[in-house]
Order: sequence, then structure tokens, then C-alpha cells
Amino acid sequence: MKVLVIGTGAREHALCRSLSLDPDVTALHCAPGNAGIAEVAELHQVDALDGAAVSALAAELGADLVVVGPEAPLVAGVADAVREVGIPVFGPSKEAAQLEGSKAFAKDVMAAAEVPTARSYVCTTPEEVERALDAFGAPYVVKDDGLAAGKGVVVTGDLEAAKAHANACERVVIEEFLDGPEVSLFAITDGVTVVPLQPAQDFKRALDGDEGPNTGGMGAYSPLPWADPKLVDEVMESVLQPTVDEMRRRGTPFSGLLYAGLAITSRGVRVIEFNARFGDPETQVVLARLKTPLAGILMAAATGNLADLPPLRWSDEAAVTVVIASHNYPGTPRTGDPITGLDEVAAEHAPHAYVLHAGTRQEGDAVVSAGGRVLSVTASGQDLSEARDRAYRAVGRIRLDGSQHRTDIAAKVASGT
Ligand code: AMP
Ligand code: GLY
Repeated sequence: MKVLVIGTGAREHALCRSLSLDPDVTALHCAPGNAGIAEVAELHQVDALDGAAVSALAAELGADLVVVGPEAPLVAGVADAVREVGIPVFGPSKEAAQLEGSKAFAKDVMAAAEVPTARSYVCTTPEEVERALDAFGAPYVVKDDGLAAGKGVVVTGDLEAAKAHANACERVVIEEFLDGPEVSLFAITDGVTVVPLQPAQDFKRALDGDEGPNTGGMGAYSPLPWADPKLVDEVMESVLQPTVDEMRRRGTPFSGLLYAGLAITSRGVRVIEFNARFGDPETQVVLARLKTPLAGILMAAATGNLADLPPLRWSDEAAVTVVIASHNYPGTPRTGDPITGLDEVAAEHAPHAYVLHAGTRQEGDAVVSAGGRVLSVTASGQDLSEARDRAYRAVGRIRLDGSQHRTDIAAKVASGT
């Protein structure tokens, strides 16, 4: 099978790594990719948001399957363009990707499907904002309606800050605050059948102790020893299957990866958000544990054959990933700094720990930073404590001037407290 992956992050590197280990994959291409992905896939330059360019590239390469990694091309209709030229694609249509592209749309689908989520108001004027903030009280949760790379959400006790964020957005969703730990649960679907993956936990805030601004995600781990063993079944029944059924009922079936961001509150599981693609960095730890070859799973979803897929097989090992970000992320990150230590990690820490590239590019002999999140250092171990130790030992070998990473990824759970 010839596979073309669209995207450039650590999620795409994790997808390409798994695909490169799949004996059914005879050729692996990625566009635009990064310096790390270049080690496992052939890179091509393409504007990932241009459906015509992506489908032309897929046709030229004779791709049997296209996997669209990030949300922006999905929301722009890139999967539709590839499907139109007759190539199977893993990723939802433009209309179905609205589950991520518009928080108001997602709320509407959840209401119709009776999926448990935070109560909310959609607001477009300062008066509506004021009324909604007043109705829920502090802490305030204010979400930009559109795509914002994980940075459109403000959770604050400060009424003026909540108002300022709301009034800076055209349309906002203001909702009740959900307490309790968060879980990311991914499911593969072909629009009818839903196959859940293993849950993971993401660390969204920039700084240790869950301080600082929201980011795209600074680290993750899986499995979740503290979670109820029935959690996945419960979310399948109350969230994932009803949502997929509702999308099909509307005539806009959702196929690809449905990502449920959940809060485990004192009153039960609630959906915080949906995403229409694999999460980053959770994918790095989920795929580290997946034993079933990936290409067949993605192809079954792309071609409507998931019902025939044998049950997924999972490793008993745990996985942890730690994101190394540029100076000043999630603000305007500094880029162009050389990264060293990558060869040492490959030589001394493989196969238990390895580096997945996010924002990097090759400049002559050097690999340099090229984005906010730069690397995602991933490790496996017999338990979370071993996986975490291995991940941080590898992080310690890497040098990137001005970089930052959290030192407490999976710390509490690994120590059993
Ligand atoms: P989102 O982009 O919707 O995932 O929101 C980003 C982060 O903001 C989430 O991972 C949560 O940590 C936080 N958040 C979003 N909605 C709520 C809510 N209703 N209550 C508490 N925290 C929230
Ligand atoms: N880790 C959060 C996301 O992928 O949206």
C-alpha cells in the first residue's frame, strides 16, 4: 500500500513512524513534513490547505491512501478534494469537520444526540456575553467559536479578562465550568462503525503545576491507571456512537478520527470539545502502545470496512511524551535555533525512547527549530514511572537554545499520588 500523509507536526511524525513499521506499507510519502519525518518518508512540498494540489500530488504518487493529519486542511475541504479523484482518504469531509471547526455546531450536534456536555450560550454581542458570564458565574469559560490551535479558550476567575477575550472574538461560546480530570479518547470511524483507541491524558497548560496559558499540549501519557475500567465503554455508548449516528442522520457522515476531549466531573463524564483528527501530543503515546499495524485500520475507515476489522491489539507497556517548545511559545515563538543531541538519543536511548519532530527543518547539516512546539520526546516502559524516566533522560540530552518543557508530565500518576 502506498500512503501519503498530509501535515508537518509530531502527530504526523508518529503516524509516519507507525506506518513505516507496517509491513503492508510499500511506499510512504509526507507533505510537507519536517526534518524528522524525512527519515521515514519521502517529503514533498505542497500547500496542505490546497485540495487541488494535494489530490494532484496523491494521484501523481499513485497513493492508495491519503491520511490528513491536521484540522485546518480538513476544515478547508482537502479530504473532499482527494475523495473526488477516487483515492481513499482518512479524514472527514469539510462539513463533518465542522464538529471541530465550529464549537457552536458541535454543541448543536451534541444537543441533538443527547451527548453530555457543559451547558452553554453562543454569543455575538457584548450584552449577550455579559448575560452569559453572569448566568454561569466564575470560573468563566470563554471559547472562540472558530479554529484557534488550542489557544482560543480562556478559563479565568477574572470577569474583566473573560469579557476582554469574548469581545475580541466575533462569536463565542460561553459555558459552565467543568471540574475534574480531563481525558482524551480517540475513536476511528467509517461513519457507521466506531472503534475506540486507548485513552490518554494531555497537559494543556504551558507551565509546571498546570500554570500559565493554554497551549496545543505540552505532554501526554497512556494508559490512565486511575480511570474507571468501564470508561471507554461508557463514552462509546453515551458520546462516540450517538455523535457518529447523528452526523450520519444529518447527511454528513463523519469518517476518520473522532477525538472526544472529556472532563470526568463529579456528576459524570462531559464532553469539553470534539476534534476531527488525531490529537497532538496524545497520538504519540497512543500509537506507541498500538500493536495492530496502522495502515489497515486507517484504510478500513477510509473505505467503509471497519465492521470487518479484527479487535485492535495493545501493548501492556505505558508511554509518556514530553514536548520541547521554542522560546516564548505559546506566544510568538523564536525559530531558527539549532537542535543538538538528536543522534545521541537515537544511539543511546532507542528503541525505548525516541524523538518525534514537530516544528523542525533541515538547514545543511543542522536541524533547526521551525515552530512553537519543536520536538515530542516519547518513551515506553513497563509502567508510567519507567516510561517517564526514559522520556526525561532523553529530553536531558537535547539542546535547543531558549527552549522550554514541562518537568511534571505524568509525575503525579507515576508516583501513584
Ligand atoms: P478546548 O479547546 O475546548 O479543548 O479547551 C481547551 C482547554 O480549556 C481544555 O482542555 C480545558 O482544560 C479547558 N476547558 C475548556 N472548556 C472547559 C470547561 N467547560 N470547564 C473547564 N475547563 C474547560
Ligand atoms: N492535544 C490537544 C489537541 O490535539 O487538540
